[in-house]
Amino acid sequence: MKLNLRYAKYIALAVTASIILSAVGLLIFASYETKKHLAQTTAGSKLYSQNCASCHGVNLEGQPNWRERKSDGSLPAPPHNEDGHTWHHSDQLLFDYTKLGGSAALALSGVTGFNSGMPAFAEVLSDSEIISVLEFIKSTWPERAKISQQERSKAEEEASK
Ligand code: HEC
Repeated sequence: MKLNLRYAKYIALAVTASIILSAVGLLIFASYETKKHLAQTTAGSKLYSQNCASCHGVNLEGQPNWRERKSDGSLPAPPHNEDGHTWHHSDQLLFDYTKLGGSAALALSGVTGFNSGMPAFAEVLSDSEIISVLEFIKSTWPERAKISQQERSKAEEEASK
């Protein structure tokens, strides 16, 4: 069979054009996602200063001696930076802890009677504002903490299906 060069040329052109178009599409999508995330973390940073910094620290450093229980049995506010254990917890737990407060969030997983100093924000922040604050906190972590926390969240999500 003789190869029809004219058609081959058109096909090559169509393939090249579709590759270029997909690449441009992907770039536009990626920059849109980056912009959206940036807007979310900027809003989250403001909400953090207004609602969380008084206890968890302006620079997410937590309260002094945050590992030592106070006389009422409760713990001080831990840091939200890499030094703390926020990044050891799944998205679901972080969300519940912020929305419901520490004692109610722990009760969900069967731990009752824990005197937690973490207040509930259900009446103060909307669900999407809570997610923005948590996205801001996450944006400050080094890559390996981000990856580890993402993996934990994914594993917990799979297990609860
Ligand atoms: C009145 C002080 C106070 C404020 C304000 C506060 N927290 Fe807390 N938070 C705490 C304390 C104390 C703990 C540790 C409680 C515990 O051991 O259960 C805690 C724990 C947490 C935890 C669990 C962290 C971990 O590693 O176990 C998360 C998540 C959290 N806070 C998020 C927030 C967010 C987000 C805000 C702002 C919207 C906020 N907190 C505002 C006092 C506060």
